[in-house]
Amino acid sequence: MTSNSRIVAAWRDRTPGSAALSEQAADLFPSGITHDARLQDPYGPYIARAEGGHKWDVDGNRYVDFFGGHGALILGHAHPEVTAAIAAAAAEGTQFGASHPREVAWAAQVRRMVPSCERLRFTSSGTEATLMAVRLARAFTGRAKLLRFLGHFHGWHDHMTTGYTNHFDGSATPGVLAGVAEGVVLAPPGDLAAVERLLAAGDVAAVILEPTGASFGQVPIRPEFLHDLRRATERTGTLLIMDEVVTGFRISPGGAQGAFGVRPDLSTFAKIIAGGMPGAAVGGRKDILDLLDFTAAPAAGREKIGHQGTYNANPTAAAAGLACLTVVARGEATARADATAADLRAALNAVLAEEGMAWAVYGTSSGFHLFLNPAGRQVTPERFDPLACPMSELKSPPPRLVSRLRLALLLHGVDVNGRLSGFTSAAHDSADVAEAAAALRAALRLLRAEGEV
Ligand SMILES: Cc1ncc(COP(=O)(O)O)c(C=O)c1O
Repeated sequence: MTSNSRIVAAWRDRTPGSAALSEQAADLFPSGITHDARLQDPYGPYIARAEGGHKWDVDGNRYVDFFGGHGALILGHAHPEVTAAIAAAAAEGTQFGASHPREVAWAAQVRRMVPSCERLRFTSSGTEATLMAVRLARAFTGRAKLLRFLGHFHGWHDHMTTGYTNHFDGSATPGVLAGVAEGVVLAPPGDLAAVERLLAAGDVAAVILEPTGASFGQVPIRPEFLHDLRRATERTGTLLIMDEVVTGFRISPGGAQGAFGVRPDLSTFAKIIAGGMPGAAVGGRKDILDLLDFTAAPAAGREKIGHQGTYNANPTAAAAGLACLTVVARGEATARADATAADLRAALNAVLAEEGMAWAVYGTSSGFHLFLNPAGRQVTPERFDPLACPMSELKSPPPRLVSRLRLALLLHGVDVNGRLSGFTSAAHDSADVAEAAAALRAALRLLRAEGEV
C-alpha cells in the first residue's frame, strides 16, 4: 500500500518500538505475523501488557481493547481470579504427563454449564476440537461427508479451508487433498431448503455451524434456523455440531445452545473455556464420545478412535478455565459485557449519523461489527438490518479502507480486529464507550482529509 498517508506517517511517529520489532519480525515470520488475522499495514502495535479493558504497546501507548484476545477474554485482561489461578497452578508444575484434579473440576464445571456435554475431551485449540468432532461424526454415522456453511470459520485444518474466504466452489485450497475437499459440501448460510436437499442423499455425517452466524454474527442467521437445522438433521440421522468456540460461555453462560434452547449432538469450545490460555474441548453425547473410550467402544462393536495431545488439559489452562467459568457462571459478567456492547453500538451509530456516514454498527450479545456499505445502499446507521443484506456486502468491505480505518482508530487509542469487529468484556465501562466514540469521530475526519471516504 502507498505510504504517503498522514495516518501511516502519524502511526510510524507514535510507534517506533513497534516499527523496530515489526522489521525484525518480517525476517522471522511470513508477513511478519503469527496469525493471519493480526495482519495490519504497515504493522500493528506490539503489546507489552494488558489489564481489564486496556492494553499498552511497547512505546507506552494505551488502547481500549476490543480485539478481546480473539474473543477469549469475556472477563477482560489479567482478571485477578484467573491470573491467581494460573500462578498457583504454574507454581505446582506445568506438565505432569498424568491426570490431575484440576482437569476433573474443569470438566465438571463445563458440564454443569453445558449439559449436552455428557462427556468431553480437552484439546489445546479450537482447530483440534473441530477436527475431532468431524472424525467422531464420521466414525459414529459411517457416513463420509461434512456439511458446512459458506463464510463460517471452524479453524484451519484440512476440512475447514474451502468456502471460508475463497474457494466457494468447494475446490481444494493449496496443500489440501482434493479427496478431502470433496468430502465437504458447502451450503449458503441460513438456507434450509439447500440443507434439506444436501441431506436427502443420507451421506452427510454432520452439519457444523457457528450458531450465531459467520464470524460471530458478522453474517447473522436467524435463531429459528438453529431449530430448523436441528429438526432437519434429526430427520436424516445427521449429527449437529455446534461450533461454540466463540459463542460458548459468551452468548450466555450456557453458550448459544443455552440461549436458544437447541441441543446439539456435539459441541466444540475454545477461547473462554480456557480463560485466555491455550485450551479447548469437544463435548457431546456419551454414545458418540464413547468412540474415544477404551472399554465402551469395543463393547459397542466399534473400533476406538485414538486421541493424544501433550498439552490436553494442561494444568495452567485448566486452572484458568475453571476460574474463568466459575465467574461466568454467576451471570453478571455476560450481562455487563452485553450491556456495554449495546451502549457501544448505539454510541458508534450516533457518531456515524452525526458525521453523515451511510455505514452502520450492528451485532448482538457482546459483539459489534462495522458495516462499510460497499454497494452504497441507503443506510440509516441505527436501523441497519444485516439479515436483509447479502453476505458479499457484509463480509467483503474494501481492504484498503478497512486497513486505514483500523490504523486511524489505533492512532486514537482503540483496537478493533482486522474485520472492524470487536468484543466487549465485563471489564469495559462507559468511559471506554465514550473513548471509542471519540476515536471513531476523529478517525472518520482523518480518512476524509485523506480522501479515503
Ligand atoms: C468459530 C471458531 N471455530 C474454531 C476456531 C479455531 O479455534 P483456534 O483458533 O483455537 O484453533 C475459531 C477461531 O477463531 C473460531 O472462531
